[in-house]
Amino acid sequence: MRRPHLLLRVVFFSGWIASWSPTDAAGPADRHLFPAPNRPVATIISPAYSDEKTRDRRGEAERVMTRVGIRPGMRVADIGAGDGYYTVRLARRLGSAATIYAEDVKAEYLGRLGSRLKREGISGVTLIRGEPGDPKLPLAAIDLAILAHMYHEIENPYEFLYRLRPSFAPNARLAIVDLDKSTQDHGTPPALLRCELAAVGYRQVDFILLAPADGYLVVFVPPDELPPVEAIRLCSQ
Ligand SMILES: C[S@@+](CC[C@H](N)C(=O)[O-])C[C@H]1O[C@@H](n2cnc3c(N)ncnc32)[C@H](O)[C@@H]1O
Repeated sequence: MRRPHLLLRVVFFSGWIASWSPTDAAGPADRHLFPAPNRPVATIISPAYSDEKTRDRRGEAERVMTRVGIRPGMRVADIGAGDGYYTVRLARRLGSAATIYAEDVKAEYLGRLGSRLKREGISGVTLIRGEPGDPKLPLAAIDLAILAHMYHEIENPYEFLYRLRPSFAPNARLAIVDLDKSTQDHGTPPALLRCELAAVGYRQVDFILLAPADGYLVVFVPPDELPPVEAIRLCSQ
């Protein structure tokens, strides 16, 4: 019997995920209750930040994975996975028993990533089609989420962070890699990032510049309890 095309499998799988999405547990189903960010949101223009050889030559993924302590057994989500720069390097480090969720809002990008994983013989990766305000990851199933070069593209970061929270297991962390540039220039100033994460209760526990690679890494711990949506205070750039 022929196996269904990968994209169909992704769409089917994301449909299944949607049926047990943490959305309801995460708060109001009405996305309009969340305040819009008080700064521009960058447009999605590409499934990759820049070319992988240059990033590796500058040690980006190695530095990030070492700093956050990636080790076999961890369940990791690559959110905004795009072409999978982090997904494939996480898979290599986590080994054959890896549990990786590669999530993106673009079905086309997930289709390309699925083909890449097959071509490179990488297993242990579940592809998930999320929504701009909800990554649709399984409940209490993530030890570490990595958001690389994508935070500034999230339409409503307050809603996104709110709906992401129930997917974290105890002692989980959230790692964000971005450039210290304005959001309209495809970066996020670190003070703005800290403010928006704090508005939803996330607390910064680490920060490093990634030089000679581009940008910075910030690590947060999620809140024990989410604040009421009405208590979210807007941040400015
Ligand atoms: C510049 S690419 C970065 C890809 C990869 N993380 C990297 O470091 O090369 C940004 C990716 O984030 C995705 N993206 C944008 N907004 C998103 C959202 N709200 N949820 C999930 N993915 C999103 C885009 O579709 C795109 O694939």
